[in-house]
Amino acid sequence: MTIHIIADSTERISGLRQSLGSQDVTSSLLNDATGAPKSSDAVIVRADFTVARNLVTLKALVPKLAKVERRIFIVDGRNRLFVSQAYALSATHVLETPVNGSRLLATLRQAETPCRSQPVVAADPAREASAGGARSLASMFSDMRSGRPIDVADARAAAAAIADAIAEQRLSNWLQTVRHHHEGTYQHCLLVTGVAAQFALKIGLPSADVERLTFAAMLHDIGKAKIPLAILDKPAKLTDEERVVIETHPAAGYDALVGTAGVSDETLDAVRHHHEYLDGSGYPDALCAPSISDVVRILTISDVFAALVEDRRYKPPMPRPKAYEILCEMRGKLEAPLVGAFREVALVL
Ligand SMILES: [Fe+2]
Ligand SMILES: [Fe+2]
Repeated sequence: MTIHIIADSTERISGLRQSLGSQDVTSSLLNDATGAPKSSDAVIVRADFTVARNLVTLKALVPKLAKVERRIFIVDGRNRLFVSQAYALSATHVLETPVNGSRLLATLRQAETPCRSQPVVAADPAREASAGGARSLASMFSDMRSGRPIDVADARAAAAAIADAIAEQRLSNWLQTVRHHHEGTYQHCLLVTGVAAQFALKIGLPSADVERLTFAAMLHDIGKAKIPLAILDKPAKLTDEERVVIETHPAAGYDALVGTAGVSDETLDAVRHHHEYLDGSGYPDALCAPSISDVVRILTISDVFAALVEDRRYKPPMPRPKAYEILCEMRGKLEAPLVGAFREVALVL
């Protein structure tokens, strides 16, 4: 494996070279860097994100970095915002300090696995849409955490690219591509968007409705930016208190987006109500069937299915037939004819 290091000081470059031992390593200083050599298998980026000039330089490097398959950013673990910024700067994996040699090498090996089983195709719409979608989500989550308005146009374009990729390729290709995404919440949102797009195409929604649905799917969990990661990524069952906290995310997303230009009432409804069930047992408003829109019903089915089939560090993906069985068992909560129509999305590879 060939690895290129980009760092903002010679000390950091030396430290990383030492950690990588006998690996085939090249390096450049951030402000002299023109990107990583195209032939590199991985690039490791280490820079101080509190220095504005570093962020500007890295942003300019994104198109070149994106040509390298594995992009590992090492960020200061004391500020969670840096993780979002790293993903927004095209990272495929983010490590928070302190990082030792064995952790770095383990991440490089982990990053290598999907690439071996999935040869790089020059223009793979799923990979490109997944990378673009992840960047857009990272920016949105970062903006939400900082109280800045989100980039609506960017999210809309990312959703449209995902819908196009789904129209062009099979859903199973999308699931396989997106499941490799390291950051669980982004993986989930990308999965929901792809599943919703496939569902919309399957039931023959007009293209304007596909766009509205996939845009809502991209935004649906934006309120999770306000939930502590210790709860969001907890690798065990949540306590009752933690569940109360996580259940604040639909209203938090709604509150943050209300009044944002380009975000319609229909999208706000989807963000706020994607955990409502027809029998009134959902949250935050315990709506019943007549108050739950068609967009929300479709989104909720896509959301539940995506949550079951996603691949998290603590949870292997559930096989699609099993996930569909669970949807079928949610009688009274989800719209039965829609669940019936979803069969083909869930089971056809
Ligand atoms: Fe949610
Ligand atoms: Fe969700």
